[in-house]
Amino acid sequence: MAVLQMRVFPDPILRRRARKVTQFDAKLARLAADMAETMTAHRGVGLAANQVGVLQRMCLVRMEDWEEALVLVNPEVIRREGLREVEEGCLSLPGYRGMVNRAERIRVRYQDLQGKQQRLKADCMLAQAIEHETDHLNGILYLDHLIAHDQLFRIHVNEDGEVEYIPTGEPDAAELEAAARRMNNPPQVPQFDPSHGRPATPAADDATAAD
Ligand code: CO
Repeated sequence: MAVLQMRVFPDPILRRRARKVTQFDAKLARLAADMAETMTAHRGVGLAANQVGVLQRMCLVRMEDWEEALVLVNPEVIRREGLREVEEGCLSLPGYRGMVNRAERIRVRYQDLQGKQQRLKADCMLAQAIEHETDHLNGILYLDHLIAHDQLFRIHVNEDGEVEYIPTGEPDAAELEAAARRMNNPPQVPQFDPSHGRPATPAADDATAAD
């Protein structure tokens, strides 16, 4: 197994629609294993193939207490119920988090690595992760679901280990590149944990981001 290179925004592959998987072979299983290792290395909860430069409709999710990742091939969210505001991050946008709308419950149809059709009902963080990762396969990022333009934050872990949220607009390429260079060790904040210390109302004088 190998850790694959993570594609980072604004890499155009993140905006492309992945193609349907038709070959359920050893090569696909190998890609899934490499993606699982890559996700573990980045302490992620989910990973889509686009993010490692492969335009195939496959993604992985793994909740904290799971031993193995769940591999979803050709996943399709076939039902969404309810709406909730949650905090979200993405391995392809290191150092950023945003507030987005996600469903409370979903049903997803997918194939496993053998090509067998499967169905799953999910709620809470699992539903959020599956929505996020299936979005990736359609070229959609959580930036597209922000509840408001100013609900994107740059995160910074201060000297006391506290997570600080710095309001920003949509990150531009130069800023993200600089952030990626700074962050050989990006702040360790769970990808989908809504319980972090984001200020309920960001300080007004910090909100300087331009349109
Ligand atoms: Co992501």
